[in-house]
Amino acid sequence: MKVYNFSPGPACLPEAVLKQAQEELVCYGGSGMSVMEMSHRSADFQEIIDKAEKDLRTLMAIPDNYKVLFLQGGASLQFSMVPINLMTTHKRAYYLKTGAFAKKAIAEAKKVGEVIVPVSSEDKTFSYIPDTTPDMFDREADYVHITSNNTIYGTRFTKIPDTNGIPLVSDMSSMILSETVNVSDYALIYAGAQKNIGPAGVTVVIVREDLLGKAPSSTPSMLDYKILADEGSMYNTPPTYGIYIAGLVFAHLLKEGGVPVMQKRNEEKAKLLYDYLDSSSLFKPTAEKKDRSLMNVTFVTGDEALDKKFISEAKAHGIVNIKGHRSVGGMRASIYNAMPIEGVQTLIDFMKEFEKNA
Ligand SMILES: Cc1ncc(COP(=O)(O)O)c(C=O)c1O
Repeated sequence: MKVYNFSPGPACLPEAVLKQAQEELVCYGGSGMSVMEMSHRSADFQEIIDKAEKDLRTLMAIPDNYKVLFLQGGASLQFSMVPINLMTTHKRAYYLKTGAFAKKAIAEAKKVGEVIVPVSSEDKTFSYIPDTTPDMFDREADYVHITSNNTIYGTRFTKIPDTNGIPLVSDMSSMILSETVNVSDYALIYAGAQKNIGPAGVTVVIVREDLLGKAPSSTPSMLDYKILADEGSMYNTPPTYGIYIAGLVFAHLLKEGGVPVMQKRNEEKAKLLYDYLDSSSLFKPTAEKKDRSLMNVTFVTGDEALDKKFISEAKAHGIVNIKGHRSVGGMRASIYNAMPIEGVQTLIDFMKEFEKNA
């Protein structure tokens, strides 16, 4: 039985993409072999990675002065690569502490240079995005780091902070391609693939060209953006199959109408679920209304035993992976691009039924 998979990541992929991959699994085009078996130096693979990059550039309207990299190591390796490569002039950066991944990013950056944390929402279990003002960024710094969408807590930045002219870096792992962003507002964007892009194992980095080549000479080659960019993401063997699937997802999104269409659908899906949560007397949303994520909807009943019962009964109804992160408890429905509105409606119908019988 095919289920509705509300996993926060790895997450559901468009069915059309999975079917295409299945058709091409054994024999890709005229190559006579699987993409998995191909040399990354072959013309066939070069075409696959070039097309993936071209389609991502179109989807996000990435300006020509930005490099697109397909790397490994997950978003977590970017927690280290960003400071190693960018914290080089002032040796100082600002980090907004809005969740568990922001905390991890801060811990890694502290190994490289000075980290200033002007705001944090840890006082209320990261259930909101703290306000910032430009005067908070009053010292010379190499960048300001934000987590655009906080996967665990279900919050997002609905507008980008005014950083007083300091370059902005964002971890977009759980919202990339879900809503329109203006790439030029950022010095660097990174995202693990396993939510809105493709399978785990690929990390996308979009970096402004003038920021390359600043890493200290002691930097390992595999961690130096300039070397990776100069080699077209192929300094070593890249995650070829993951890049191929990511390429299929990009082409699929373009065919569906691109990011604005995704955004409209995501807003509709999120509204359906939040509207129900706001009207429910059993389920309560945990994120502050103004900062609600379009991608990860977190909620509780207030009774742990009831949460557990709900999660287990939902599973029996083909609604899986809605258990909240252990640090928040309760439930989390991750409704990335590939989650159809029917999935959200099925979840709501089941919640109503559960509420009636509770
Ligand atoms: C916002 C965010 N940043 C970073 C990560 C860590 O990503 P990875 O497991 O690819 O290292 C995640 C994973 O869920 C995430 O949601």
